[in-house]
Amino acid sequence: MHWIAIILTTAVLTLILYWLLITTEGVYLGRRIVVWLYDITAHKYDGIKEFDAEAEHFFLIRPLLVRLRRVPNPLVLDVATGTGRLPHFLLEAPTFNGRIIGLDASEKMLKLANEKLRPYGHRASLVQQVADQLPFPNNQFDLITCLEALEFFPSDTAALQEMIRVLKPGGTLLVTRRKGREGKAFIGRYRTVQQFEAHLRQLGLEDVHTNPWQTDYDQVFSRKPA
Ligand SMILES: C[S@@+](CC[C@H](N)C(=O)[O-])C[C@H]1O[C@@H](n2cnc3c(N)ncnc32)[C@H](O)[C@@H]1O
Repeated sequence: MHWIAIILTTAVLTLILYWLLITTEGVYLGRRIVVWLYDITAHKYDGIKEFDAEAEHFFLIRPLLVRLRRVPNPLVLDVATGTGRLPHFLLEAPTFNGRIIGLDASEKMLKLANEKLRPYGHRASLVQQVADQLPFPNNQFDLITCLEALEFFPSDTAALQEMIRVLKPGGTLLVTRRKGREGKAFIGRYRTVQQFEAHLRQLGLEDVHTNPWQTDYDQVFSRKPA
């Protein structure tokens, strides 16, 4: 009986630890733990993700370029840029003639982004900062993106408010909504499509539109009123 209790307790504790550190990547333990987990696993990130250039261009970059087509020399901010996925694929597109700033809290993720973005010179720059304190004046960016990251911030609302503050009137915001079984594991933080869209509208955004994208994420586009 004694041994059964020990085995059951160990199993429950292992499950809780797995949920806290792997499934939800430390978000219930605070921002420092999230960033530390990204720092210690940064070297594996691109290998795990295996981004497919053709799919990235078709499903991610093409819709952004459509929204930027009337903006000369657009200025873009990628919040939680990680290893520079979005800046890299956007700058690779021959029709993109703007500049992009990638922001992330993890030093090690940014180190890898820096290597990837070096060929683009002054058109790409990187900033180490947290998403709910963006070091930019109001109304600066034509486009702000935040991919696969909102669910890891201490408050997605605070980060969204900052993104809206620094977005130009009429500018586009692209964020992702975590979905599926793993999305629902973010207890107290998960939002359905309707709840997520309503949340963006409550924050003052318009033209809110959800695009199914990957197994775990939807793309959600919106616009700051002009
Ligand atoms: C799953 S990765 C996504 C990276 C990139 N957007 C992509 O699509 O590959 C999540 C990123 O969010 C960053 N991050 C987590 N919490 C953050 C915070 N509070 N402020 C800024 N960045 C944060 C992590 O360092 C990590 O690089």
